[in-house]
Amino acid sequence: MRFGHFDDEAREYVIATPRTPYPWINYLGTEEFFSLISHTGGGYCFYRDARFRRLLRYRYNNSPTDVGGRAFYIRDGDDVWSPAWMPIKPKLDSFECRHGLGTTKIRGSRNGVTAEMFYLVPLGETAEVCRLTLTNDSKTPKALKVFSFVEFCLWNAWDDQTNFQRNFSTGEVEVEGSTIYHVTEYRERRNHYAVFGVNAPIAGFDTDRETFIGLYNGLHEPEVVLTGSPRNSTASGWAPIGSHCLEVSIAPGEGRDFVFVLGYVENPVDDKWEKPGEVNKEPARALMSRFSDSAQVEAAVAKLRDYWSSLLGTYVLESPDERLNRMVNTWNPYQCMVTFNQSRSASYFESGIGRGMGFRDSNQDLLGFVHLIPERARQRILDIAATQFSDGSAYHQYQPLTKRGNHDIGSGFNDDPLWLIVGVAAYIKETGDFEILSEEVPFDNDEANTASLFEHLRRSFHFTLENLGPHGLPLIGRADWNDCLNLNCFSETPDEPYQTTANREGRTAESVFIAGQFVYTASDYAALADHMGFTEEATAAREHAASMKEAILEHGWDGDWFLRAYDFFGHKVGSHECEDGQIFIEPQGFCVMAGVGVEDGKALRALDSVAERLATPYGIVLNQPAYSGYHVELGEISSYPPGYKENAGIFCHNNPWVMIAETRVGRGDRAFDYYKRIAPAYLEEISEIHRTEPYVYSQMVAGRDAVREGEAKNSWLTGTAAWNYVAIAHHMLGVRPELDGLRVSPRIGAEVPSFSVTRKCRGAVYRIRVVNSLAHDEPRLVVDGTAIEGTLVSYAAAGATVDVECET
Ligand code: BGC
Ligand code: NOJ
Repeated sequence: MRFGHFDDEAREYVIATPRTPYPWINYLGTEEFFSLISHTGGGYCFYRDARFRRLLRYRYNNSPTDVGGRAFYIRDGDDVWSPAWMPIKPKLDSFECRHGLGTTKIRGSRNGVTAEMFYLVPLGETAEVCRLTLTNDSKTPKALKVFSFVEFCLWNAWDDQTNFQRNFSTGEVEVEGSTIYHVTEYRERRNHYAVFGVNAPIAGFDTDRETFIGLYNGLHEPEVVLTGSPRNSTASGWAPIGSHCLEVSIAPGEGRDFVFVLGYVENPVDDKWEKPGEVNKEPARALMSRFSDSAQVEAAVAKLRDYWSSLLGTYVLESPDERLNRMVNTWNPYQCMVTFNQSRSASYFESGIGRGMGFRDSNQDLLGFVHLIPERARQRILDIAATQFSDGSAYHQYQPLTKRGNHDIGSGFNDDPLWLIVGVAAYIKETGDFEILSEEVPFDNDEANTASLFEHLRRSFHFTLENLGPHGLPLIGRADWNDCLNLNCFSETPDEPYQTTANREGRTAESVFIAGQFVYTASDYAALADHMGFTEEATAAREHAASMKEAILEHGWDGDWFLRAYDFFGHKVGSHECEDGQIFIEPQGFCVMAGVGVEDGKALRALDSVAERLATPYGIVLNQPAYSGYHVELGEISSYPPGYKENAGIFCHNNPWVMIAETRVGRGDRAFDYYKRIAPAYLEEISEIHRTEPYVYSQMVAGRDAVREGEAKNSWLTGTAAWNYVAIAHHMLGVRPELDGLRVSPRIGAEVPSFSVTRKCRGAVYRIRVVNSLAHDEPRLVVDGTAIEGTLVSYAAAGATVDVECET
């Protein structure tokens, strides 16, 4: 069942009913100020850091779900309603929400009045702008009262939800004209405040939640709106809010619009005050004046559209499959940009107060946006590398505001270092910027201890080699990519974390996944070493990769698939000998991507085992059989009920590894089949089962063992976005930058008989037309009219246009 449709022309998803199976959200903002906004206006916004600079209060895991954030109320005579449906849930004559690229438009109508809220965070601004348009579609004049509403967060989102003995006494506001200032803690160490204004005279305001709503009332029955009279309340402690009351008369057939601005303002520390006790409002007035009419909003919208058109113009697909086009051209790269901006911090499943930037997550996210914003990817790489230790290991997470490694979690996730090589290689392939390898980068942010970025990569690579176990396979440490495979943490009490309570000396537990990752990474690492003139290092790296391959084939092969690991006692994990957890997806994908077992048929066998044992209609589950009980020697994985998360859920992040592996062994049709099982645009028709947004990937879909099979959770912030993009754009459609040229080597099966890709890379434009006849073992290429050997198109000079004809 669908709850809306894609408008491909406008690049919007159009939601036709407020009763979606879960709040369907969007992100506004591209630089420093971000908003989460659901289809009924729920959500919140923050400046740079969702924990420390949160502007709006949001209550997670609430019932009813998703109340709060922002709201409008309309009083039309005695009828009171909310045009975004929530919080009053009135019967609406029409409802529509359009989530687009950095914009959200919500429209509701009732009794001849239509209200449209158009939200965006303009480029270059630290503010959420909302243009409210009211039209009178009836035959009689309307005299309306409109009430805005936001509830302020007292900045630190963690304290805001926990430290009530303090919070209930600190709240402060100021009001000037039509502008409300939220100035809690400004009197002491803060030099920032929030501002909420509207470009019209107001009939009154409220800033105290209890006065506005009533202590025992819900947001669906605010006393002020029910009585129709603002009380000009001034918050003092308790819960500061912002509410304007506008009196609006509209003749039949006419409309009015208003511009609301909710912004973050920072003053110089020595220029905090206008006069004693009054905050410096100058920058806020300037902000308001930049959005004092609708035309200014229009201009900001136009700029934002250009920004997105230019970003998304880097890789443009035209194929007969409209669902594929909308994934590749719009929604998948859009989600990749959101993961760039948010990492795993703020979504409807991530509270914004928990995790910092992940070392492995950020490196993998980069794969999905490096072609869109290479300069920002460069900075990201340098930031990440600066959180590495000099022995090559790395902080598992770092904080976005400080860019410092996170001591609470520390290091010891032994896949982390290798992801840096993956990220850097992707960046150089995209840009040709080998210079980055010579940048001096600190270890652990210590400017007194620096080395070139290449040296960082060298230490990453050698970290694995210096930490091999009894079978010559890499030690797993606290966990590898699978955070829940905790083979050195024997946790028996519920109050300790699975991942950081390492209470065994971890020199035995080994990971076949990291072994595959090592071989996969080695070829790029060796090529970069060659480019740097480090020939011996390159040769040695290739030899190490060859030995690791041997070790995998000897100790990491179970007969029909690749083993997952050896545990602390040297027992196999992911073997037919095991009772539960006999086969895992990760090593099948990564070992085959690395080319292990391709020559001797093991790769094909492993992928066939995936098809037989792990593939389901909703995607490929992580392991089978699911663990039915807790295994202290395996850790968190066995803590989940069967079918959820890492315990046999469909972890969408690793499905594309199998897709890429299938293209590696020439089975593009299987790859594309797996792709369609999890790509959101193909799941639109089963939204009632899938539940999360049909325009973005979710981290997990409940697997076949789960009570709620097919139900997705954790949409938006997941490495799924980047890897699925790589799988489809680079490997199935087959257009990918390599160090020495643009590879054009599609493997997508007969279902897509022809397509074209326009790819911008290193300043040139490649117009690639593919006839997918599947007649040849290797695709045949004609470049600017001349047939070439192989599938690598040499990079052209910046400004050039290259025509490529490809027949498969
Ligand atoms: C989740 C993992 C996640 C980890 C982060 C676990 O509870 O299952 O998916 O990577 O937490 O710390
Ligand atoms: C989510 C985490 O962010 C990621 O780092 C990890 O690899 C996966 N879960 C799998 O556990």
